[in-house]
Amino acid sequence: MRQFSHQLVQRISHFLDMDVSDLGMEVVDPPNPKLGDLSLGCFPIAKAMKSSPVEISQKLAQQDWQLEWIEKVVATGPYLNFTVKRELFSQYAIQEIKDQGTSWGDTQTGHGKRVIVEYSSPNIAKHLAVHHLRSTMLGQAMANLFRSAGYEVVSWNHLGDWGTGFGKLLAAWDKFSDIDNFDSPKLADREDPVSDLNALYVRYSNEAKDNPELDDSARDWFKKLEDGDSLARERWETIRSVSMELFEKVYSRLGVRFDKVIGESHYEDGMKDVIDLLVSNHLLEESEGAEVVSVAEDIPPMLIRKKDGATLYGTRDLASAIARHEMVEFDRCLYVVDAGQSLHFRQVFGVLKKLGFEWADHLEHAEFGVMRLNVDGHWKKGKTRGGQVVLLHEVLDGAVELAANIVLSKNPDIPEEDLKEISEAVGMGAVIFSDMKAARRKDVNFDLDKILSFDGETGPYLQYTHVRFASILRKAADQGLSENDGKGLVEDEELQLIKRLLRYPGIIDKAAKQAEPSQLSQYLLDLASEFNTYYSKHRVISDNAELSGHRLALIQALKTTLGSGLSKLCIKPLDRM
Ligand code: ARG
Repeated sequence: MRQFSHQLVQRISHFLDMDVSDLGMEVVDPPNPKLGDLSLGCFPIAKAMKSSPVEISQKLAQQDWQLEWIEKVVATGPYLNFTVKRELFSQYAIQEIKDQGTSWGDTQTGHGKRVIVEYSSPNIAKHLAVHHLRSTMLGQAMANLFRSAGYEVVSWNHLGDWGTGFGKLLAAWDKFSDIDNFDSPKLADREDPVSDLNALYVRYSNEAKDNPELDDSARDWFKKLEDGDSLARERWETIRSVSMELFEKVYSRLGVRFDKVIGESHYEDGMKDVIDLLVSNHLLEESEGAEVVSVAEDIPPMLIRKKDGATLYGTRDLASAIARHEMVEFDRCLYVVDAGQSLHFRQVFGVLKKLGFEWADHLEHAEFGVMRLNVDGHWKKGKTRGGQVVLLHEVLDGAVELAANIVLSKNPDIPEEDLKEISEAVGMGAVIFSDMKAARRKDVNFDLDKILSFDGETGPYLQYTHVRFASILRKAADQGLSENDGKGLVEDEELQLIKRLLRYPGIIDKAAKQAEPSQLSQYLLDLASEFNTYYSKHRVISDNAELSGHRLALIQALKTTLGSGLSKLCIKPLDRM
């Protein structure tokens, strides 16, 4: 819509002899199509000119607009309503989308602005579980959206690789080598090293209940790790690298990648500096032997150092935020972390603010709701009936398997290779879309059967719509039809679709600004359903080669837009199914 609204705004600036381009005027649909095709509220201009919007709209409606794509301008109260000349409007719109090619949708809104998006951030020595899906995919989509809107983006994985828990793991590695010796076969050479680590950890926890000496040993091992003892360090590095390898496998399946992967361990020195800073600012207080900082009256103080001198997750977040700001002078730094940690982030941001860091105002907790799974008819938070966490790769495999059944039932002769590729894409698409569909703060009930349906509001439905576009274009090419310039797109439904297509770049901007991928998901659902309405009424390929050509241009523009939108959500647009 930009090029059209730009022209309107330029004309208005000319008529009023004043630059109105920065007033944030937005072209919308009139409430009733009888009023016109495009509508512009005159409120911002009225405010700037200290005049009434009704007067302004009346004055503007009387001007000679001299835009060849405009048929008529009418003032309706404070609104200016435009009726377009459909042939030209359609032709220009189709041309614009075509000209932009693969960068269609990209804008320069964020030009010169830097954003850090932190997401996923799993703890090492554990598998990615289903609850990691939300942070990982919402965060990746946000990073994609910001990039598309012209921001400079640093995608960040804040790996949980430090803390006293690793002392326990190292103690277990040492103590239980008769049960499982991680040096033979070496952890790194094993099929599933992380499960082996978990098994030993469970064993440790059980034995530590009756044998408190184990905890002393764990403390010793963590101390060794902190002091840089070579064996402790080497083992910890191994644990880190086998975990990372496992994460990478899932990330690459999901289309997730990071510019920076920095573990909490990295902030050892930074933490000492933070504590010094807190001391010199007289913020550190003693509370029952531990050290805390009060943040605000309505929240409990933030714990900085425990009785035994150990620092904490939160302390590392303080150091990490300072380090981030030193590395990247960000305009926004988003923490895509579940809403359950909101108190934690209020404390972290509050303490940084108390330390006088003005940029603490640019830290945001981009929180999200929980994902629940159906366990025997009850919605549970990512756990099975036995209380086991549900692993992410298992959920993905399950979705892919179901997708394969569905694809096979629709297309029994599909070659093995294609089946594999398509069911992987459809399974992933289903899972990912279910995560992005609703506003991120909402909880999600994850239901495999529903999300794989081809006719609900699902990822596969959108992928299938994309396939339809591709197959229409293939069929047309087989018949020797070629695309036209779009001038023939004059039906009501065509104008509607074109207007929606033109909104795409604005949607990306809005979704980025609000860190809300669901803006894009909802847009894509609307686009697909609007197309389906159109398609049930009008034939794209007909005996009229010229008209078919115009409609093919529309299908191509739809395919470009849907394909681009899906990719930003990390969902693969497919050409066949
Ligand atoms: N590793 C943490 C967890 O698994 C999440 C880290 C979130 N990010 C942060 N900067 N605190 O719960």
